[in-house]
Amino acid sequence: MASETKEFSREELATHNGEDQPSIYVGYEGKVYDVSESKLWKTGQHMKRHPSGVDLTEEIGGAPHGPEVFDKFSQVGTLKPEKDPMDEGVPDFLLALFEQVPMLRRHPHPMTVHFPLVFNLVFPFFNVLYLLTGHEPFEKTAFHMLILNVPSMLVGMSTGPLTWWVNYGAKMSNNIKIKLSVSCLLFILTLVALFWRITNPEILVNMGTAGWAYLALSSSFAVLVGILGWFGAKMTFPH
Ligand code: HEM
Ligand code: HEM
Repeated sequence: MASETKEFSREELATHNGEDQPSIYVGYEGKVYDVSESKLWKTGQHMKRHPSGVDLTEEIGGAPHGPEVFDKFSQVGTLKPEKDPMDEGVPDFLLALFEQVPMLRRHPHPMTVHFPLVFNLVFPFFNVLYLLTGHEPFEKTAFHMLILNVPSMLVGMSTGPLTWWVNYGAKMSNNIKIKLSVSCLLFILTLVALFWRITNPEILVNMGTAGWAYLALSSSFAVLVGILGWFGAKMTFPH
């Protein structure tokens, strides 16, 4: 026996369309009504155009009457909310978490990318500043920025794929291809520069070919992170 608390899936509701079984049900605003007793629904169709066994919430706007027509029919259950296609494949515990803390769905990437953006820009900036002024703490600052770049890149490279998965359905696009390859390249170059600087702390002090190469490498970080930000923002603000 149906009860008001029974939850109907779309598929289940569709079986109450006057063909497979005698009961004729209609979905309206999340509720399921039994209209089997109505002369106007007994064929399973209403006014030769509205099928039963489906959610007709949208269609009632075109009717010469309002939802008061349901008053004399009993509610036999509720309609299971349709899953957002974007939620397909996202585990229920994550969906429950996003329900509790909605900002966790969209914000982690835009929030955390500011760290790699800053470190990748400031690292070459302080190297250049050191070369211009000869003031050694500037070079040290650049080195520290390079160290901090490692965890900040890892965070950006984790929240990026996460946001791509839960907000873009993990659909591949040119923007994503560029972002994935450029961030991997930038991360590898970060490790290379770090290794180089650790094994050769005087690399900019005794400026030679290696020093210029190191400077060029560090300057490429600003360009690469600019590409990451540009193609990211193209997705967030497409127009
Ligand atoms: C162009 C679309 C529609 C037309 C022309 C139409 C017309 C009518 C008419 C003339 C009646 C009987 C008079 C009345 O009770 O006011 C009626 C009753 C009813 N209609 Fe519609 N309707 C339309 C769409 C819909 C839709 C989309 C729904 C469901 C969401 C719906 C549900 C009902 C129900 C439950 C009744 C009561 C039936 C009864 O008392 O036996 N109608 N409709
Ligand atoms: C650490 C490297 C990365 C940096 C610096 C970076 C930077 C950015 C920036 C600045 C934005 C625009 C954010 C906004 O203002 O809303 C963005 C958006 C985005 N990024 Fe990244 N990103 C990185 C890695 C990745 C990776 C590896 C992916 C993987 C797929 C990715 C996917 C996305 C997506 C899908 C958006 C759009 C976010 C939205 O619309 O909410 N990012 N990124």
